[in-house]
Formats: sequence, C-alpha cells, structure tokens
Amino acid sequence: MIPAAGFGARFHDGGPKALVPLAGRPMLLHALERLAASGRVGGAVIAVPEGYEDAFHVALKRAPFSYALVEGGMTRRESVARAFAAANFETDDELVLVHDAARPLVDSIEVAAVVDAAEKTGAAIAGFSVVETIKRVSGGTVGETVPRRDLFAATTPQVFRVGLFRKALAKAEGAEATDDAELVERAGGAVTVVLTSRWNIKITYPEDLAWAEAFLGRSPA
Ligand code: C5P
Repeated sequence: MIPAAGFGARFHDGGPKALVPLAGRPMLLHALERLAASGRVGGAVIAVPEGYEDAFHVALKRAPFSYALVEGGMTRRESVARAFAAANFETDDELVLVHDAARPLVDSIEVAAVVDAAEKTGAAIAGFSVVETIKRVSGGTVGETVPRRDLFAATTPQVFRVGLFRKALAKAEGAEATDDAELVERAGGAVTVVLTSRWNIKITYPEDLAWAEAFLGRSPA
C-alpha cells in the first residue's frame, strides 16, 4: 500500500508531491521500482488525491508491477485505511507492506530485510538511530533534553500480518497516527525494528529533493 495522496505543503504549493520529478522520473516511480527490485512486492494499491487519477496513470505507465488507485483521505491514516479496504487480502496470514511515496531512495535489500523480519514476528518497521540531540521546545525555549540513546526515527517500509493490521485499524477508530506501526502498538502488538541506512529520507522540503538528486547522481539507480 502506497499512501501518495499528500500535496506536500512543506515542499511546494503545486500538485501531488508523489508526481514531482526526481532525476527525470516521478518520485513515486522510483519508490515502486525499488520495492519491485526487492523481489518481495508483487503489486500495489496507491492512495492518490481526488481528481488526479489520470495524472497518476500517465506517471505510472512504466510501473514495474500491477497496481490499483484509490482515492486518498484527508489524513495519511485515512489514505492507508482506504488502500487496505481496497486491497482485498485473501487471508489474514498474508503480509501487507506500507511505503510512503515520498521515500524514493529506499534500498531494495533493506525492503527485503523488513519483510523477512515481519514474516518472523508479524510486524516490522524500517528506521535509523537518531544522531541529533533531541530537545522538547516550547515557545522557542528548551524545556527538556530527551536522552537519545533509545531514540529511533521510524521510516517505511512497515510490514504487518494482515490480520494484525486489520485489528489495529479497527481498534484505532479513526484516531490519528503519523505511522502505521503506532496503530499496531496501540493494539498491543510488538513491532520489530530493522536498522537501515539514513539514505531512506522522506522528501519533505525542497532541499531534500536536491539531496536525493545528488544521491542518484553518485550511485547506480
Ligand atoms: O505528510 P507526510 O509527509 O507524513 O506524508 C507521508 C506520506 O503520506 C506521503 O507519501 C503522502 O503522499 C501520504 N499522504 C496521504 N494522504 C494524506 C496525507 C499524506 O496518502 N492525506
């Protein structure tokens, strides 16, 4: 499932961020190609903004596997819930993978590693250790320094057993979450963490795109 229904308000005031070109191709296409190269993803349900279906079909003409589009929601969680409903999983034992369209540099071997971990434990997420010192700030003044030793930046892919994720979504009852694992955690599920490289950034600000272009310029795409 690919939530791709965001407009990227922090990035620009144009159309869907997922369609922004990176090294000449839509960001979303990079992400799909890297998922496909993992050998562990066979298709996708992609949540897109209302009215942009045709633009996505054009952008995905060379998609590496079959896909379906669904209309996204007002929030990321809603977009994921709609994609999940449309995915029509046959059994609760299957695995569902969620990956942000805004993470086009995900490493294929690391995708496979997250899937392998979820196969064993039922829930696994990618991420990396936080290197900065994190401070809780209020009104421009530091309130507290958070010990960084156990801090981990959660990224995607996030992979879950379908039955577990179904229960987590139902239990969330519309409450918001900034990632999918949070829903599983709230439902009492244990989530395994797979450490990845820090290249798997989320394209959020314009400078992130420049960074991604530089990365692709120095490594085989
Ligand atoms: O807003 P954020 O950067 O957390 O978005 C992460 C991913 O969720 C992006 O790929 C974006 O397109 C997607 N999203 C969505 N539906 C929304 C908001 C964001 O599919 N309503």
